[in-house]
Amino acid sequence: MSGGDGPYPGGEHPAPWRTVVVRDFPSSGWILDVGGGGEGVIGRLKGDRVVSVDLSESELHDAPVGPLKMVMDARSMQFLDESFAVVTMFFTLMYLDPGDHLRALSEAHRVLKPRGTLLIWDATIPPRRPPDPELFIVKILVELPGATVRTGYGVRWTECGQDAERFCALARDIGFRLRGRSEDQGLFHLAFEKSE
Ligand SMILES: C[S@@+](CC[C@H](N)C(=O)[O-])C[C@H]1O[C@@H](n2cnc3c(N)ncnc32)[C@H](O)[C@@H]1O
Repeated sequence: MSGGDGPYPGGEHPAPWRTVVVRDFPSSGWILDVGGGGEGVIGRLKGDRVVSVDLSESELHDAPVGPLKMVMDARSMQFLDESFAVVTMFFTLMYLDPGDHLRALSEAHRVLKPRGTLLIWDATIPPRRPPDPELFIVKILVELPGATVRTGYGVRWTECGQDAERFCALARDIGFRLRGRSEDQGLFHLAFEKSE
């Protein structure tokens, strides 16, 4: 994200730094972290209680050790129905094509036990309008209990955009109940429960 050779003054992309506070959450059994490569934030929080799946093997290699890591597509997961009590998606949905959001959320719903929890952290991305740049960049300071991770996520910026409301509507249609919602600095956190 940063460095002296880039096109930006001081070598840093001009997007503002935003803070995400990730608090510990109750869990029993395995936690499925979908798109858990890269910084592996949920793995840092929950260690070997996490099964971390990602489409990219190299992203899984980059993530810290601790979780069980598996190459897998969020749109078609290999787990049996009702395998997990908690599923997390930490800045994963923004990396999916908007047309795949419903499939990925449906898969999360399928592998969750009844009354299981889906936790989402992600960014509001307004629809791209020229002369907006081709990439949408989010720079975040992730505050975990006892550690701060400084990172940036970037995706191709499309005309669709995304926001919390869209994910709430999709999740509701699938059979999730909204249990918590917070938004700050263009970032949001959603907690859903799978209806029995
Ligand atoms: C912002 S990055 C990683 C964020 C990560 N949760 C963390 O803690 O840093 C989003 C991840 O989603 C993964 N991804 C994209 N499409 C996917 C898919 N269809 N199935 C699983 N993972 C996917 C990418 O490979 C990437 O590692």
